[in-house]
Amino acid sequence: MVMPSRKEAPSVEDGYLPIPPEHLLPNTRASFEIYLKQGGKFVLYAKTNDQLTTQHRSKLGEMGAREVYINVSKESEYSDYIQDNMAQLLNDDDISADVRAETWSWSAANLAEAVYESSLPPSVLRKRVDRIKKLIEASSRFFTSPESLKELAKYISAGGNIYQHGIGTMVYSLCLMQTYDPDEPTMTAVCVGAMLHDMGKLHLPEQLLEKDPRDMNEQEFRAYAAHPNIGVRASAVIPLMPEAIHCVLFHHERMDGKGYPSGATGEEIPLYARVVGLCNAYDGLTRSKPWRRGYTPFEALKHVRDDTGGFDEDVFMRLVKVLSDSGLT
Ligand SMILES: [Fe+2]
Ligand SMILES: [Fe+2]
Repeated sequence: MVMPSRKEAPSVEDGYLPIPPEHLLPNTRASFEIYLKQGGKFVLYAKTNDQLTTQHRSKLGEMGAREVYINVSKESEYSDYIQDNMAQLLNDDDISADVRAETWSWSAANLAEAVYESSLPPSVLRKRVDRIKKLIEASSRFFTSPESLKELAKYISAGGNIYQHGIGTMVYSLCLMQTYDPDEPTMTAVCVGAMLHDMGKLHLPEQLLEKDPRDMNEQEFRAYAAHPNIGVRASAVIPLMPEAIHCVLFHHERMDGKGYPSGATGEEIPLYARVVGLCNAYDGLTRSKPWRRGYTPFEALKHVRDDTGGFDEDVFMRLVKVLSDSGLT
């Protein structure tokens, strides 16, 4: 997956891929060459493993360069470089919130898509989940600003794939969890659980997932409602932290006990799983499904609010506040 440059489809020219100049992070070394385009030709700007400095970036600014280029064969090294330096990039106030949000979304999409591939060997799955943990750890400060969620919403709200819904659920859960000021390991575990909550759906037939659960017959619904349990079983090879497992297992439980798979009620459902359950519902409603269009944030919140007995009222009010502080409702 290629980093979309400036919200336009990236065009690979003569084997060179455009990247934003802001991605040349001071005091880092990139394991790829960086080129400029001058007079229609690609000119070497920084060699592999050169120490990058603030001057590298400021000089590009003075030249008015809107893009620099890497060899397209180095795309995966570039993706690793961004992931490895995500904390620095997100905390760099010289980079616009828009570019930081776009970069975060691109990186998260790469990682989430890779983890939602079916039939991964356990060792590969473990490594990929570790990268997601690192991304979350690098992101928490960035997410304290309401501006960040506003910028991110432009990039995370599109698409109906399981992994895209996983990212959306994780982002809203992260913002909501911050209102409870949890310790870092709990935050990471909850966000990993939010990202992977629908993993069990990978083991369900596609035709079933294209059906509105309200239109399923009893047998179909029983198969569908097993996905939290299947997800917990599938993730046993990682293994996940207990809070993450609870988020996978409890994300369809309801405060009134009418949820599944266990029918747990109220505080029997851990607080962080109530957070992920609500964010799952909200994010799902905002995405288009084969049987209905995606709801606007306002419509989705109204739908959740009208679902009496479904969600924790205090958690709901916090979601309303997080979204309105970010200007999303
Ligand atoms: Fe689910
Ligand atoms: Fe979900």
